[in-house]
Amino acid sequence: MTNNTERECDVLVIGSGAAGLTLALKLADENPNINLIVLSKGPIEEGSTSKAQGGIAAVCNVYADNDSLESHVADTLVAGAGLCEKDAVEFTVRNAKSSIEWLIKEGVDFDKADDSQNDYHLTREGGHSHRRIFHAADATGKAVQDTLISQALNHPQITVLEKFNVIDLVTTRKLGLPGNRVLGVYVLNCATGKVENIYAKFVALCTGGASKVYQYTTNTEISSGDGIAMAWRAGCRVANMEFNQFHPTSLYNPQDQNFLLSEALRGEGALLKRPDGTRFMPSYDKREELAPRDVVARAIDHEMKRLGVDCMYLDISYKDPEFVKKHFPNIYERCLKVGIDITKQPIPVVPAAHYTCGGVMVDQRALTDISNLYAVGEVSYTGLHGANRMASNSILECLVYGAAAAKDILSKLDSAPSITKFKPWDESQVTNSDEEVIIQHNWHELRMLMWDYVGIVRTNKRLERAKHRIDLLKKEVKEYYENFRITNNLLELRNLLQIAELVVKSAMKRKESRGLNYNLDYPDMLDDPQPTVLTPKIHK
Ligand code: FAD
Ligand code: SIN
Repeated sequence: MTNNTERECDVLVIGSGAAGLTLALKLADENPNINLIVLSKGPIEEGSTSKAQGGIAAVCNVYADNDSLESHVADTLVAGAGLCEKDAVEFTVRNAKSSIEWLIKEGVDFDKADDSQNDYHLTREGGHSHRRIFHAADATGKAVQDTLISQALNHPQITVLEKFNVIDLVTTRKLGLPGNRVLGVYVLNCATGKVENIYAKFVALCTGGASKVYQYTTNTEISSGDGIAMAWRAGCRVANMEFNQFHPTSLYNPQDQNFLLSEALRGEGALLKRPDGTRFMPSYDKREELAPRDVVARAIDHEMKRLGVDCMYLDISYKDPEFVKKHFPNIYERCLKVGIDITKQPIPVVPAAHYTCGGVMVDQRALTDISNLYAVGEVSYTGLHGANRMASNSILECLVYGAAAAKDILSKLDSAPSITKFKPWDESQVTNSDEEVIIQHNWHELRMLMWDYVGIVRTNKRLERAKHRIDLLKKEVKEYYENFRITNNLLELRNLLQIAELVVKSAMKRKESRGLNYNLDYPDMLDDPQPTVLTPKIHK
């Protein structure tokens, strides 16, 4: 560190979820001389990783339940509705076993089968033809997040900086130098309110998804798509942004934030019901409650609209109460807090935005279009998820691509160009905002319009309306950004608007209904589907 507004490191990891901490630990464990900075926008544990419930899919024992790598690949391809890149799927599935073994070595305590000291209890979720999901009760993400945090905090080569909100990437191209290589970032230190420079030889975006662009989401505050927006502004291509996954079952409770009701509930037999207690999934799909998420979310949405009701119901109350409490202790407690005993009554549910299937395009090394810039985890588009992510494949993607990025960085570290410094952030032309209400208003408007016009069911007219509003909001916020001192809220709104624009643009380009993109004006599937790739103007 040179002074309080400048820092430097070999590798800057932006994000402290499964993706960021896997990458950081793999690098630090392999090279005793490397120095790393890991940033988190909020507290270190805040993000989707710590919220994950169901688990991590991996075929570790091909004799268990007659499972096979081929079957995990095949299920992923089916869920992805013809748009997965098979190489990426095979690569991920092949590396799943070593990823689980690594987590166990790091200290993650996955549930064991009832009668066993050695065999793990594997659960099932939608789209999976076998039980192959490793889990820690119904709070797998917390087990993973806590374990990786404690390893990272105890690692002498890793410096963790919490509440550092990255504003933008700095690249050679932005400085008018040849090529397009990442040099570092401008970051808002939320404790001081000052913008700092961080210089690095390698930068990894591990910033998670963008589901906060929707009004109702299972995600935490941090999922505003910052990494995707920054990468786009710096010149990276993005793909498949129209495919935002809506989880079918979040707790319906107007007084409370959306809380996820894990698909593992359905994996263990929970049934979806109308308010009158009748089931509806059998009339939508032969896989019934375990159909892929897009199918189940649309069925719920359709039933709610058809009957004019606020929610549907998920019922596991017919199972042994002890079984329910043992497998779903957190869900049981959380529902009890709002007056619902899930061992005795059905749970009111609605769909909510859950996962960003598209993102920054990367190869199998997690490398983006910009030299030395990587993207790992939900921020990225690897080709694994296609038009619909299969449950419990995403933490797996963080682990597999985190390891791949580490390997690539380690192979290049010795020959990497030395640090290039850049100018400090210029605040000489801006003043403090006098109308914070504009940010608040636009933020609410954007998330509501995305929910209403660019949600589970789309039409061309709704997309046009959304585009028109987003264009206006972008103009307003650009003016604001140029004239006022930045705040966390302003940065987030700027990024959310960028995400909204990319989602709408991608949805307009897709002239079919496939997976998570359902457009009433194009109800059919095309014969030769392709990913939707968007290229920024500055891309070379
Ligand atoms: P995150 O864990 O979201 O971490 C993102 C990090 O980036 C955070 O540290 C954040 O502070 C940081 N960050 C973001 N923007 C900035 C910025 N501008 N500056 C600095 N730092 C920044 N997947 C499964 O495979 N199995 C499951 O059972 C499962 N259950 C889920 C349940 C819920 C409720 C949710 C929301 C998701 C679930 N998922 C599940 C999806 C999965 O959890 C995520 O896809 C995965 O954890 C993403 O990890 P990540 O490291 O990419 O991002
Ligand atoms: C869940 O537990 O239903 C979430 C699983 C996932 O999103 O992969």
